[in-house]
Amino acid sequence: MSSADFLLLDGKAASAAWKEHIRKEAAEGVLVGKHRPHLAAILVGDHPASAAYVAGKIKDCEEVGFKSTLLRFPADVHKEDLMEAIDALNRRKDVDGFIVQLPLPNHISEHEVLLAIDPAKDVDGFHPENVGRMALGLPTFVPATPYGILLLLEHFEIPTAGKHAVVVGRSHIVGSPISILLSQNTPAGNATVTLVHSRTEGLEEHLRNADLVVAAIGKPEFIPGSWLKPGAVVIDVGINRVERNGKSRLVGDVDFSSAVEVASAVTPVPGGVGLMTRVGLLMNTLKAAHGLR
Ligand code: GUN
Repeated sequence: MSSADFLLLDGKAASAAWKEHIRKEAAEGVLVGKHRPHLAAILVGDHPASAAYVAGKIKDCEEVGFKSTLLRFPADVHKEDLMEAIDALNRRKDVDGFIVQLPLPNHISEHEVLLAIDPAKDVDGFHPENVGRMALGLPTFVPATPYGILLLLEHFEIPTAGKHAVVVGRSHIVGSPISILLSQNTPAGNATVTLVHSRTEGLEEHLRNADLVVAAIGKPEFIPGSWLKPGAVVIDVGINRVERNGKSRLVGDVDFSSAVEVASAVTPVPGGVGLMTRVGLLMNTLKAAHGLR
């Protein structure tokens, strides 16, 4: 593949364009009597990565003119206190949507917490009701990372209809939902989808037939360029911290330097899907504020 045919799927450019769209939609909504979208986030403990993710989400809200509220609890919070805070957010008329940042400390059941969130305010799209609605193709909050991937493909006008998409990984947050969304009869779907995972035999062969690869397995540089079909589009969801030459850096699930020699388009890490995940959450918050689940 010559460099002229290669497209860097720059999450910075795509997220900036989508954020501008969201900012305008919110501002125009206010002009016609709608309220300013308001996102709340619950952060338990002070895990540095979680704290950084939540800080990013709050900053995004400011950028697009949303209100935001951060509720912090110590890592040893009583489950009852956390449930009470969720209940209060469910009832607050001025909060459109909220998230509980995961992971939670071991003494608190994530499943129980996610079930307690009002599905109409579940802008993460993790409540079983919203997962079910997504699987059925009903209006819902699509989880932020799969949503961000669809918005990235839309921004770069990458068609999915009739293409063979191979999704690597079956997590509830990324692999499973993106495989469903890409296969649905929608403008962002209509792909033929293969979902592969840690127990798949012949992983390389599946990948060699993929027009579109979504890599979400959390293994640093697991997929080399030699496993890709020439001209493939590669969406790398992995964010893995590795030590290289005494330095700490972030790499994806795909080996970027060899992938760019074979693929027609690749997302960088960092600066790719991660930024689009944040857009997905903003989009869901805008929908929640405008009564459009
Ligand atoms: N932890 C990692 N990703 C996510 C996410 O998308 N939402 C929440 N709530 N927690 C996370």
